[in-house]
Amino acid sequence: MEKLIGKKINTAVFISGRGSNLKSLIKYSKSKSSPIKIKLVFSDKLRAKGLKYAKKSKIKFFVSSYKPRNISEKLILKKLNMFKIDLICLAGFMKILSANFIKNFKKPILNIHPSLLPKYRGLKTHERVLKNNEKVSGSTVHLVSKKLDSGRIILQKKVKILKSDNAKTLERKILKIEHFLYPKAIYKFLSNL
Ligand code: GRF
Repeated sequence: MEKLIGKKINTAVFISGRGSNLKSLIKYSKSKSSPIKIKLVFSDKLRAKGLKYAKKSKIKFFVSSYKPRNISEKLILKKLNMFKIDLICLAGFMKILSANFIKNFKKPILNIHPSLLPKYRGLKTHERVLKNNEKVSGSTVHLVSKKLDSGRIILQKKVKILKSDNAKTLERKILKIEHFLYPKAIYKFLSNL
């Protein structure tokens, strides 16, 4: 842990929508013990609600539509370079980063996924979990690799599923734990570098 003292890692957060995880990461980054400083927010959606959190905290943000992906990714890499970004946190980012982007960024990329990986990779997680009558679900913070939702797991947290749960209530429960899990996972990951 000692090596992190005094050095905050320049971090970019990628979002596509609501941005509740971005909000919790901004709050975390402002705490004394946080090893990260959020320097940049990227969204592929101009109307992403989460952008308001970047504006509120005066964090630089930019939008590029990801159409076509290669042009957007070139622009993103340029910005990441300009802002000397050493860590990317994907937080509800709905586009798939190309293998080329991951290779060229060369630094770690983390993602948060609302299931207990390796179970339920991909979309519509809660619906599939409920359909299979699972008794627990949860969230996973993992490193991003070329294969979707498959990189090394940093941290997971479980939640119990009640008979009365539906996709909405399960989503809400999982989001609530994610807001603690992501900061904790970032701290763990950076402490072990
Ligand atoms: C979270 O549940 C996260 O696990 C998944 O997308 C959701 C994003 O929510 N990748 P928010 O935009 O951070 O509120």
